[in-house]
Amino acid sequence: MLNFTYYNPTRIIFGKGTISQVGSQAAGFGTKVLLHYGSGSIKKNGVYDQVTASLKAAGLNVIELGGVVPNPRLSLVREGIEICKREGIELILAVGGGSVIDSAKAIGFGSCLPEGEDVWDDYYMKGDCTVKETLPLGVVLTIPAAGSESSTGTVITNAEKGLKRAVNSETIVAKFAIMDPETNYTLPAYQTACGASDILAHLQERYFTMEQHNDLSDRLLESAMRNVIANAPLALRHPKEYRYRAELMWTGTIAHNNLLDRGRIGDWASHDIEHELSGMYDIAHGAGLAIIFPAWMKYVHNTNIDRFIQYAIRVWDVSLPVEDKEGVFTAAVDRLEAFYRSIGMPVRLSEADIGPENLRKMAETAMIGSSHLGNFKKLYADDIEKIYRLAL
Ligand code: NZQ
Ligand code: ZN
Repeated sequence: MLNFTYYNPTRIIFGKGTISQVGSQAAGFGTKVLLHYGSGSIKKNGVYDQVTASLKAAGLNVIELGGVVPNPRLSLVREGIEICKREGIELILAVGGGSVIDSAKAIGFGSCLPEGEDVWDDYYMKGDCTVKETLPLGVVLTIPAAGSESSTGTVITNAEKGLKRAVNSETIVAKFAIMDPETNYTLPAYQTACGASDILAHLQERYFTMEQHNDLSDRLLESAMRNVIANAPLALRHPKEYRYRAELMWTGTIAHNNLLDRGRIGDWASHDIEHELSGMYDIAHGAGLAIIFPAWMKYVHNTNIDRFIQYAIRVWDVSLPVEDKEGVFTAAVDRLEAFYRSIGMPVRLSEADIGPENLRKMAETAMIGSSHLGNFKKLYADDIEKIYRLAL
């Protein structure tokens, strides 16, 4: 187990009826709030009314910026930065999913940059993680998926350039996150499934490490993976059943708040390879991951097949003789793909109407700013192109 520090300051307020606390939580940071949200789901399902009633009761002055789209755009981030500077915003409140939260994080630190520094050129394009200052961020989460409610990450898309890039920094972690699983009842099945796929991916990225003897993290990750595999189909079958929504929502946070990769270095190549897909084709992140992860596994498994054997046995209950390592590995990937298919995810690029035209280009763009992708096996442009081809 490697040395580590662990720090995650997000106050999680979880459960039924908790949105009524947003006003009192927000009031701890000032009186001027930027309410940031997406394309309208919160107005249809009553979350917007609950949030604004609570902010009003707390006497807060609210300015709104809606219109965040999945794969959140740099253009709206720039607009938000202007508003924050002009209006003297003291807290950004993100109400929605990972896209809204990531956009809010970008606006938050973008508003505090010194003269002459640019949020995209100097941070996202450089993968610069030395963010020094940000406006405080509060979250009302409406979809379990990205884990951005207590993660160090923000991922933004520059639509003009077809690029999607991340910044990671402890500075931008949310101050509080209100998580009411009842808000998930209105999620379309496709979004529920994309969320489950992303949560599973965050666990798998952390599981596939070259570090030995980090058993507690292995066991916690395996349990969390099994929890997603068990509860995602149930949430799809019973969309208004609280317990299944609650299981997914809490697992989504735990999967990405960095607790489960202490003492090890996770992989993360599949995420980087997927970000090229969603940057170029605007595909949902969870759907892209369901396509890339099995292909990544097929390409890298011989680097340390014993880790895949453990995954096969403990996560997928593969009971073939362990001497047949390749057979055990193949059975695990078959089960993973069958799981994705069972929840309505694509597992091949062709199923998402993506052909071979841009694979080389994406492989090369993925390398911009990085010496290699991944840690389980270091990958370069030729490897990445081969992984895309395995996913065709
Ligand atoms: O925009 P609205 O109208 O709100 O609709 C959203 C959107 O269309 C809808 N939705 C959300 N809650 C709903 C709902 N519809 C009905 N009822 C509800 N309760 O769902 C759609 C997807 O929302 P989005 O925020 O895009 O989903 P998600 O949470 O999966 O976020 C995806 C983004 O997060 C990034 C991804 O790359 C992607 O851009 N990630 C962020 C990470 C981080 N910050 O740590 C890590 C992840 O690996 C990921 O890369
Ligand atoms: Zn993800």
